[in-house]
Amino acid sequence: MFERPSGGEQAILVHLTLTHLKEQASLEEFAELARSAGATPVGQATGTRYTPDPRYFVGTGKLEEIKALVVAHQAELVLFNHTLTPGQERNLEKYLECRVLDRTGLILDIFAQRARSYEGKLQVELAQLKHLSTRLIRGWTHLERQRGGIGLRGPGETQLETDRRLIAERIKHIQKRLEKVSSQRELSRKARRRAELPVVSIVGYTNAGKSTLFNHLTHASVYAADQLFATLDATLRRITLPNKTPLILADTVGFIQQLPHDLVAAFRATLEETCQSTLLLHLIDASDPDRQLRIEQVNQVLTEIGANHIPQILVYNKIDRLTDYPPNLERDHEGHTKIWLSALTGNGLELLKEALSDHLSKEMLHGWVRLPATAGHLRSQLFTQGTVLQEQYDDSNGDCLLEINLPARNFAQLAPELHFEIKAESKLEELTDGNQDPM
Ligand code: GTP
Repeated sequence: MFERPSGGEQAILVHLTLTHLKEQASLEEFAELARSAGATPVGQATGTRYTPDPRYFVGTGKLEEIKALVVAHQAELVLFNHTLTPGQERNLEKYLECRVLDRTGLILDIFAQRARSYEGKLQVELAQLKHLSTRLIRGWTHLERQRGGIGLRGPGETQLETDRRLIAERIKHIQKRLEKVSSQRELSRKARRRAELPVVSIVGYTNAGKSTLFNHLTHASVYAADQLFATLDATLRRITLPNKTPLILADTVGFIQQLPHDLVAAFRATLEETCQSTLLLHLIDASDPDRQLRIEQVNQVLTEIGANHIPQILVYNKIDRLTDYPPNLERDHEGHTKIWLSALTGNGLELLKEALSDHLSKEMLHGWVRLPATAGHLRSQLFTQGTVLQEQYDDSNGDCLLEINLPARNFAQLAPELHFEIKAESKLEELTDGNQDPM
């Protein structure tokens, strides 16, 4: 339904420094975004203005320059590294006789290509439709567009009315489906809360290597996918660390500077996951010369979505691109952990698992507990919570021995109900070593 830059589409980039703004988007990043969307930047027009021109965004001189570039390069697309009003976009398209896309449209397009979960795809389509509906103005039909197809047009409707009606119907349809998905998501969240597993989210600037790390960690894991979550959202997986700590790993959407607000809303699903995480793995492309800036930009988005209070492990990825940089784990005096690794080669992944175990073990209690045969309800409660790693029986008296791993706070809640003390850090040998007293 959407027009997106197709492979290799020749694009002219327009980037102005607007002196009334404090924060400027970067041109290099914009070129990267354009390439991510599948366009080929063939020329660029840059300049400085105090504020945008209301009619064309740029002044007449710049407009002529862009037009000349379009003609010279036979460009099919002009990309603005700014937010255009629907009116500006239409005026520009008319004048330049070429398709014009603003920064929001471009980012929406990339997200549409990347959205993986069903809900993510629906959310992006909704955001795209809303963005598009404000741009449906008579007069833009001078451009060739994809049509909905013969037979879709209602009696006596103009093209514009048909488009509006189709879009409104589609929006309604998507909203209905989203309601359904979001109630499913709520169910899965409840199940997860019941399981009380720590959620570790991988966050980072776009292209830092999040998905590569996610895949590596989930495939290498013995317990791999937990069907419960795997079916609801492809970006959540239950894994178990070598020290047996189970956790839910979440892959999130890549952050970018000046994320359009529509999109923050569109990615509620993955962002909510981020806000509820126990720990964030902040992934950084170590080979990016702007890596320090990227860290700050990601932290800024985390602040915007209210996730800045969550502890982070900084993971410097792509060390295979640096010369002479072995995997490394550093802890600074403020207790921050930094790990240098390569998600692609897997070099240094063990250090990350070690740091994860370390961090989570402070939050989790791991050990063996003994339950008398009469404590059946407690046994089933521990199983329902997903905290039991293995079970054995003591033949001498029928007691059940459980190896459990659960958050310390849950343990504190369970303990009074037990009427006896559980020694969570205990070892199986201690429990079976002739000590039959309730612990
Ligand atoms: P977004 O979905 O855009 O947010 O990207 P992402 O952070 O999920 O990055 P992704 O895993 O898609 O990786 C981006 C690119 O970096 C891919 O081409 C990967 O192959 C590459 N990459 C990831 N990790 C490494 C690494 O350790 N070394 C090298 N050389 N390349 C890597």
